[in-house]
Amino acid sequence: MPVTDTLSLSVTETLNRRRSVRAFTDRAVDPALLRDIFTAAQRAPSGGNLQPWQATVLTGEPWQAMKDAVAARIAMGREGHEPEYDIYPKGLTEPWEARRFGVGEGLYAALGIPREDKAGRLARFMENYRGFGAPVMLFLHCSRIMGPPQWSDMGMWLQSVMLLLVEAGLASCPQECWAMYGATVRRTLALDDGQILFTGLAIGYADEDAAVNQWPVPRAPLDEVIDWQGF
Ligand SMILES: Cc1cc2nc3c(=O)[nH]c(=O)nc-3n(C[C@H](O)[C@H](O)[C@H](O)COP(=O)(O)O)c2cc1C
Repeated sequence: MPVTDTLSLSVTETLNRRRSVRAFTDRAVDPALLRDIFTAAQRAPSGGNLQPWQATVLTGEPWQAMKDAVAARIAMGREGHEPEYDIYPKGLTEPWEARRFGVGEGLYAALGIPREDKAGRLARFMENYRGFGAPVMLFLHCSRIMGPPQWSDMGMWLQSVMLLLVEAGLASCPQECWAMYGATVRRTLALDDGQILFTGLAIGYADEDAAVNQWPVPRAPLDEVIDWQGF
């Protein structure tokens, strides 16, 4: 990797530094750097070593064509939706619903967009479909025959990529919102029908000054997630 931006960080520091970045500069990303990152991410574990993850990485014209294709579906309103899967379970209960609500409120508060400003919040959400200005967009997909264990493997690969990006001085935002327009994304990527789209990953250099990249994203206390037995 080029030494210019590469950071010397422990795993813990890298984890702490990673966040979902929602404003990028227009600085181009070196494809050789991305190749190094994807090569390293191949070390991600997977059940039976299936390595079920497959990704398509766009920049320049193909990335613009994707934004245009999805914008045309968005313009159709609800009719344009082609959800790939339920992004959240129907009837999400506590404590998960509060966490989901909380992250949205934190984001809009950081941007000073009040709840009454529905148009402002929608416009901000639509920034998703610009990849928040990122110069590179990765789409993570896999064969439709894969089940929950392999989707978990995809998650491990995704986190590996995100941490390696941090190490390289880059930033990212995972974006399952693209699954709302899954068929359009797959058609535009020329993926065959045997593939299912999991998520996008916006990749680029963070706009460090942007308010949207500053607010703290809380986590549940450990007692809510870890049950110690026999200690
Ligand atoms: C698979 C996945 C999909 C996500 N999709 C979106 C998305 O569509 N839009 C978005 O703004 N954030 C998205 N996020 C970011 C989450 O909101 C974020 O990870 C969470 O709030 C924790 O914040 P942090 O990543 O900054 O630590 C996604 C995260 C993951 C792991």
